[in-house]
This record gives sequence, structure tokens and C-alpha cells, in this order.
Amino acid sequence: MDPVNIFDFEAIARERLPKEEYDYIAGGATDELSVERNRRAFESWALRPRVMRDVSRLDLSTTVLGTKVALPVLIAPCGGHKKAHPEGEFATFRAAASRGTVFAVSANSSTSFQDLAQAASGALWVQLYPFRDKEMLTEWLQRAKRAGYKAVCVTLDSQWPPKRERNIRNNYKRIRGVNYPAFAGSAVAPRPGGRAGEGSDPAATWEDLQWIKAATDLPVVAKGIMTGEDVEACVAAGVDAVIVSNHGGRHLDNTLATIEVLPEAVAAAKGRVEVLLDGGIRRGADVVKAIALGARAVFIGRPLFWGLAADGERGVARVLDILKEEIEITMAKCGRPIIADIDASVVVKAPRL
Ligand SMILES: Cc1cc2nc3c(=O)[nH]c(=O)nc-3n(C[C@H](O)[C@H](O)[C@H](O)COP(=O)(O)O)c2cc1C
Repeated sequence: MDPVNIFDFEAIARERLPKEEYDYIAGGATDELSVERNRRAFESWALRPRVMRDVSRLDLSTTVLGTKVALPVLIAPCGGHKKAHPEGEFATFRAAASRGTVFAVSANSSTSFQDLAQAASGALWVQLYPFRDKEMLTEWLQRAKRAGYKAVCVTLDSQWPPKRERNIRNNYKRIRGVNYPAFAGSAVAPRPGGRAGEGSDPAATWEDLQWIKAATDLPVVAKGIMTGEDVEACVAAGVDAVIVSNHGGRHLDNTLATIEVLPEAVAAAKGRVEVLLDGGIRRGADVVKAIALGARAVFIGRPLFWGLAADGERGVARVLDILKEEIEITMAKCGRPIIADIDASVVVKAPRL
């Protein structure tokens, strides 16, 4: 049967993928409390429907850092799309471009940044870490700029490796992507401070983020922010946007859900930077709730793998279409025909029964 929602896609992917790959994608850190909380927290916000407003024409488009997107759902940077489909990032990129949204390409992409940039027309962001090796960092920033990438997403929550018990039990080996020429194909070091420049520098501080901001004229997006204090520090470092993210519960467990942190982050941002969110987005209503609470747009991570595993490019496109249809229903029934109309009065805090 055709998948009707994102959970159906996950069920198909679970059947098709080798167990260790499914576990790698679906899993999170230690008890996976944050993975689950990211989802469940959406249930603590109820929608306030409004009737008798003209919703005959809906417009889901918005802008993120000045780039127009056809819907407020972007593709989160996730390593190794070839785990789920042989066409990997190419398939994802074609799907994202055809649906008019941004694809953030992971540092650990299984396709080279330049090859992807030449593959189709569509907006790409590049994701990297505060690498220890500044020469490599400079080189990545220049490559991204030359290849036409629209923004640089710096992932800040990965300075220390997580404990992922499914991977330990499966003896799962993560392999470095092709964009690390010196390390491509080698296993990711299990402890921090492996080889020079290879991953996120455990010694990095806000000065390193400032350094990145000064080293590129592309907009800089700080990913992995979970407190108002860190939003404030991001603003001070001069970034253009923050992504409220707990890495889909894959790094530190026992955190709040991202949707719980969003109001604090938006309050700290005071309109000075765009606030984006990822983590647990599986329904159109989740997207509308996040926007109502102040997010400019959201990202999906795992669902892109479920789409890829089910049907490659078509699968990812369908995942985006399903979310779009559900966003449309939610917007129409809340009497909000355009994204700018989705304000705080769309939601109300409603303890889970
Ligand atoms: C398999 C997988 C690989 C990921 N790789 C990266 C990565 O390379 N860089 C990064 O910043 N985030 C990475 N993430 C985290 C996502 O960007 C995003 O924060 C998270 O998946 C959002 O939660 P969701 O999966 O519930 O949508 C990865 C997530 C998954 C599931």
C-alpha cells in the first residue's frame, strides 16, 4: 500500500534497510529520551481552529535568509544518504529542488560538494564543524562559495562524541565522507581529538565561530542551540540564524525537546537573527506549531532517509508533499492562508492527557 504519512515511510524503510543502518538512522544517544521527547512535546501544544475566513487560496512560501522556499520545511544536514539509496544526495537534491526547498548538505555527505552543486538548480547550504584545522576550514568555505552554496551551517553540538548504544551493539562503523579528501573512507575516530582537522574541535569556543563568520561572506547559521544563553552568544558572534536543535536526540540525551526550547530561543533572539528548528517534525501540524512559536522554518532529518529508502528521489518528494498537504489542512482550518498569518494565537499550551 502507498504510504499515507511519514510513519508509513519509516515502516517501509525499516523493512528494507539492513538492521544496523536502520538503527544508525533512527537511533539516538543512550536512553533515546530526547528522541522521543522531541516527538511527544508537540502533543503539549493544541491548535486553535478559526472559521469563516477566506482560505480559498493558500500560500506556503516564505524566505529563509533571503532565499525563497515554497514551503517552510528544509532538508537538514545528514551524513551519508547513500546508506538509504544508491543515488544518495543526488536523489535528495533533485527532490528538494523540485519541491522548491533548501537542501543543507552534510560535512559527511556521500557525494562531493562540487558534484552536487553541478547536478541541478536548487538552493544548497553547506554544513561543517568548527574544525581544528583552519586551513581546511578556509578551503571548505572557499569551495562552498565557488560552487554557489547559499549559506554555511556550522554544527556546534558535536564537539564530543555521543554514546549511541544501538551502534555499539551492532558494532557499527561510521565512515568519513568524500569531502574530507585526507580521511575519506576512513572510520570516524571514536574519541575526540583524533586526527588533525578531521571533525569538530573539542577545544573550539565562540571565538572560532567568530573566525568562521569573518572568513566567509556567506550567511552563517549556528546549529545545535538549546538555550537562550547560547542564542545570545550566537548573536554576539555575528551569526545570521540559529537552529534550535538537539541533533535529533543523537548527541546529548535528557534534554528538553526542541519545541520546548523554541520560545526561550525566540525571546533571546529578539528578532536579531532568524530562528529555525529541527527535531521530531513528522506532521504538517508540527510545522505550523513551530512557526506559531516563532520559528522561521523547520528541517527534517530522518524522514528524508525514510523517503530515500522507500523510493529514492520520488520518496523524498512524496515525504515533502505529504508534509505540505498536512500543513495546508492545518493552515486552512486555523484560518491562516499565508505563513505570515501564523502567530502565537494559533496554539495554546495543553498538557497531555
Ligand atoms: C542519519 C543522520 C545523520 C546526521 N548527520 C548529521 C550531520 O552530518 N551533521 C549535522 O549537523 N547533523 C546531522 N544529523 C542531525 C540532523 O541534521 C537533524 O538535526 C536531526 O536529524 C533532526 O531531527 P529529526 O531526525 O527528528 O528530523 C543527522 C541525523 C541523522 C538522522
